Amino acid sequence: MARAHGKLILLGEHAVVYGVPAIAVGISAGVTAEAALAESSSLALGELRAAAADDSELGRAFSALLRALSAPPVRVEVTLGMPVGSGLGASAAIGVAIAKSVLECLHPHEHEHEHEHEGRVLEAAGAWENVFHGSASGIDAAAAFHGGCLWFRKGEGVSPIPLGADLSLCVALAGPPASTRLMVESVARLRARRTELVDKSLDGIRSLVENARLAIAAGDVRSLGKLMDLNQMILSGLFVSTDEIESACEAARSAGALGAKLTGAGGGGAVVALVEDDPEPVLAAFGGLGLKCFAARVSQVPGGKS
Ligand code: MEV
Repeated sequence: MARAHGKLILLGEHAVVYGVPAIAVGISAGVTAEAALAESSSLALGELRAAAADDSELGRAFSALLRALSAPPVRVEVTLGMPVGSGLGASAAIGVAIAKSVLECLHPHEHEHEHEHEGRVLEAAGAWENVFHGSASGIDAAAAFHGGCLWFRKGEGVSPIPLGADLSLCVALAGPPASTRLMVESVARLRARRTELVDKSLDGIRSLVENARLAIAAGDVRSLGKLMDLNQMILSGLFVSTDEIESACEAARSAGALGAKLTGAGGGGAVVALVEDDPEPVLAAFGGLGLKCFAARVSQVPGGKS
């Protein structure tokens, strides 16, 4: 059984597409997949079915992933343990879990060397993601593979950020999911029209991300919260926020959150709030707005993340 994590981007989404570093955490909610050799390649994903040979988006993504692994025909069954299309990286987690499961099936005795497969898994998950999202940076797949708290730069991959303190996070689903591809394209269009303005925003995000890395390593969650709020302001200026996202962030701050922002592509989808410790007041505030929500803790102790 292969597993992959959902993810939360703490700072740097969208800017990461243009080479700015970003910080993400892998959460325990995620995806599992199981693969077996078969006569022809097929995929069962919840209620959805696809064959590698069919022309659906799912079929094309599955076949791109299998091609990247030079895999023989396989039957893959995926079980979702997280919401899809909400900015939590479900699509990348599915790609990573499928690629891991196929390699597990082809090399059954190499489980303990999972990290040796990293490059192949991320390349295959990238081929899968590109069918759905166009020019994805790869941050979602890297977080899905590794979990923990990660520093990511496009083309360079990840390095873990050691935590100076646990991170207590609250996540709300603020409105219908948006397409990552459309949101990335909308920022690209804005940049084509207002290059100087958008590049200043990207520079601003870069310094927030760099400071956030220091705050995380020092366990300075108050500063981290302020940096997340500033990142949200810049994202609003890039027109990827929505009224629902702004209300959810406001409600979280009023309930004591140290910072709150959209996470992922925006245009709907998920909001992440950082709290000092107890997530309940912020979860209650999200609940008061009628939003689905949950708590996620990223722990200093390896394996203690949730
Ligand atoms: C999506 O989770 C994050 C974006 O920056 C797109 C990407 O990095 O591929 C919006």
